[in-house]
Amino acid sequence: MSSDRISNIVILTGAGISAESGLATFRGADGLWEGHRVEDVATPDAYRRDPALVHAFYDARRARLGSVEPNAAHEALARLDTEWPGDLLLVTQNVDDLHERAGSKRLLHMHGELTKGWCLACDERFDWAGPMGEGASCPSCAAVGRVRPDIVWFGEMPYDMERIDEALRRCDLFVSIGTSGAVYPAAGFVQTARYCGARALEMNLEPSLGSYMFDESRTGRAGELVPAWVDEILRQA
Ligand code: OAD
Repeated sequence: MSSDRISNIVILTGAGISAESGLATFRGADGLWEGHRVEDVATPDAYRRDPALVHAFYDARRARLGSVEPNAAHEALARLDTEWPGDLLLVTQNVDDLHERAGSKRLLHMHGELTKGWCLACDERFDWAGPMGEGASCPSCAAVGRVRPDIVWFGEMPYDMERIDEALRRCDLFVSIGTSGAVYPAAGFVQTARYCGARALEMNLEPSLGSYMFDESRTGRAGELVPAWVDEILRQA
């Protein structure tokens, strides 16, 4: 894809970009997410019904971050962030911290972060390391048992939507990496960007559900496709 007149780039990433680091994607062949149905661990209802199960699930995922590293795709996007002279916004659906550990700065976590907690008593959000569990106490107001993972669950509003929408409307190039296109609003970003005149490129292991909406679709592993694309676009910058 040529970089003619490209100044503003918006990049959307999903679980596929972290797969080569060893983190499971969501929509495996068995339809389960690390052995659980999504409704049992990733909805406000699930949390009300069985907070211990939901905490155990996210505590395990937070612990797992300690044994994985950013891969070549995260590193290439961090390099692009440093070297790209125009506007750039990386929007990730991922709750892992691999983009920031690779060095990306112009980054939004639209579905929240495993490394943050949210106190339902005082509404503060804060960094969180280690297990949270049901009895966690809030570092801000000291309330006990009111801290939940700062993760956007199904039925909740993703973060930073206004800022993302504004960037999509202004971008010249929209790039989607490692996402199945099954979850809205992220799955609709390509439509907004294209409607407002951007070109759109997808990189995924297989064509996503919304593949037909992109100008170009590259299939393969993010760890190979993304560094090659970053080289290509920086060469033309
Ligand atoms: P999915 O698991 O739905 O999709 C991951 C995509 O990555 C699939 O299309 C895979 O083919 C592709 N993939 C796998 N390995 C890859 C690799 N090495 N290189 C490139 N692509 C690869 O994950 P998401 O689309 O991120 O939401 O899921 C979106 C949201 O659904 C998540 O953020 C989460 C989930 O429920 C919340 O938790 C709110």
